[in-house]
Amino acid sequence: METFNAVKYAHQLWEKLVKPGDCVVDATCGNGKDTLVLARLIGETGTLIGLDIQEAALIQTRALLEGELSQKQLGRTHLFLQSHETFPAIAEKPKLIVYNLGYLPGGDKKITTQVETTLKSLKKSLPLIEQGGAISLACYPGHDEGLREEQALLEWMAHLSPSAWSVSLHRCLNRHRSPFLFWIKKFL
Ligand SMILES: C[S@@+](CC[C@H](N)C(=O)[O-])C[C@H]1O[C@@H](n2cnc3c(N)ncnc32)[C@H](O)[C@@H]1O
Repeated sequence: METFNAVKYAHQLWEKLVKPGDCVVDATCGNGKDTLVLARLIGETGTLIGLDIQEAALIQTRALLEGELSQKQLGRTHLFLQSHETFPAIAEKPKLIVYNLGYLPGGDKKITTQVETTLKSLKKSLPLIEQGGAISLACYPGHDEGLREEQALLEWMAHLSPSAWSVSLHRCLNRHRSPFLFWIKKFL
């Protein structure tokens, strides 16, 4: 029996939304698994921007991408060692911006996304998104900072303009503190 998996569910939503040629942003590359899913969806004509504050994360991400993607696809992926509080200048509007909050799997658990910087980044991401695009955000309330993020994000999301955004929450109600997903869709 399989329980709800927020990351797998997010990937299904990305597959429906993202088309070859789109621009997408991975705001928390980590080990690069999400980045690879995104890179495959945009094909050889899209643009992928990836961010992380840890060099170890970007090294892992780059190694994973190099093992799986064509040279042409690799040429369309741009990784930045920087916080998602600011985004690099992007020529196109992204169809999708992805956050997978928390700490690097297998890394230092003290280096984790923080509620203040996560909110700052989300505020910057809203005007960037293409009409009809989305923000995908996986949250992990199983650890203390993740629990703080959950509380702050629930409050913040509930106040996004209902004429511009459709905000949905996908979670397993009978597994407290299990990971869940916000899907924030910008109207056309
Ligand atoms: C749960 S991991 C991401 C998992 C990743 N998407 C994957 O598929 O492996 C969270 C990542 O967010 C990064 N991070 C924490 N604060 C950040 C910030 N302000 N800006 C960008 N990345 C940050 C961490 O270094 C960590 O690698």
